[in-house]
Amino acid sequence: MVSIRDLEKKEIESYLAEAAKMEKLLNRPKSELLKGKVIASMFFEPSTRTNMSFQAAAKRLGAKIMTFYPGTSSTAKGETLGDTIRMIDGYVDAIVLRHPSEGAARFASDLALHPVINAGDGGNQHPTQTLLDLYTIKKLKGKISGLKVALLGDLKHARTMRSLLFGLAMFGAKVTLISPPALRMDEDVLAEVKEKFGAIPKQTSEMSLAGFDVLYVCRIQKERFSDPMEAERMQKDFRVDLEALKSANKNLAILHPLPKVDEIPPEVDFDPRAKYFEQAKNGVPVRMAVLYKAIKG
Ligand code: NCD
Repeated sequence: MVSIRDLEKKEIESYLAEAAKMEKLLNRPKSELLKGKVIASMFFEPSTRTNMSFQAAAKRLGAKIMTFYPGTSSTAKGETLGDTIRMIDGYVDAIVLRHPSEGAARFASDLALHPVINAGDGGNQHPTQTLLDLYTIKKLKGKISGLKVALLGDLKHARTMRSLLFGLAMFGAKVTLISPPALRMDEDVLAEVKEKFGAIPKQTSEMSLAGFDVLYVCRIQKERFSDPMEAERMQKDFRVDLEALKSANKNLAILHPLPKVDEIPPEVDFDPRAKYFEQAKNGVPVRMAVLYKAIKG
């Protein structure tokens, strides 16, 4: 599971169906579907949800999960990612990897004999987040095809947005991209969804939120800017507060991969349209499906 771009629509549908089964398992006594299996969790970048939901998913399937800490491992002595991966691959049945370098997951999966699951590689891809986003949208709206979806925020640097645009285009959603002009989605991503799915998202810098079924917001990815002050300046103009939401649909679903910083103020958390905590919760069954299929599928 390196990139959402590697998956056919049928495969994504089968992950979503498996996740729905896993969600039912959550209410039953502990499952033993992955009993005896060992998984490595390797995060070279900060994470709360992705890391914790992978850990919860592994545990709920009866697998053991080991955490690798770059700061206190031989990475700190200068060991290369390649050597570390080859070695850990010898200890476990699957590797969950987050790394700041784009292409790190592909590199690791080429070296490892066991499955490598990309938990985010730089600004490139975040395929399990996209699966959980699609799962959430389908659960909330009953479908994806034909929905009017706005992606708002740092579309240039956010891997969640790149991956999700691909998934939404594949499933036939009507996408509008809202961002500061300097943070537009890269042309190569737009060219790909046009060529593969005939999708031509609308692009705008106007904060008009009327008429959408789903509003997917992400934070300005400050750590990927050379000038963090510039990031802060841009954030101010793209705030989704209750005022901005006045013109939005009553049945809008507001999603966010989280963490949110200032782009959605806390007052919005109490609006019934805010679905991002529910979305984060879906990370567990979706990652249960991903781990199960990677190891047993
Ligand atoms: C995102 C990420 O790490 O790409 N978080 C997540 O996995 N839920 C979003 C972000 O950091 O903005």
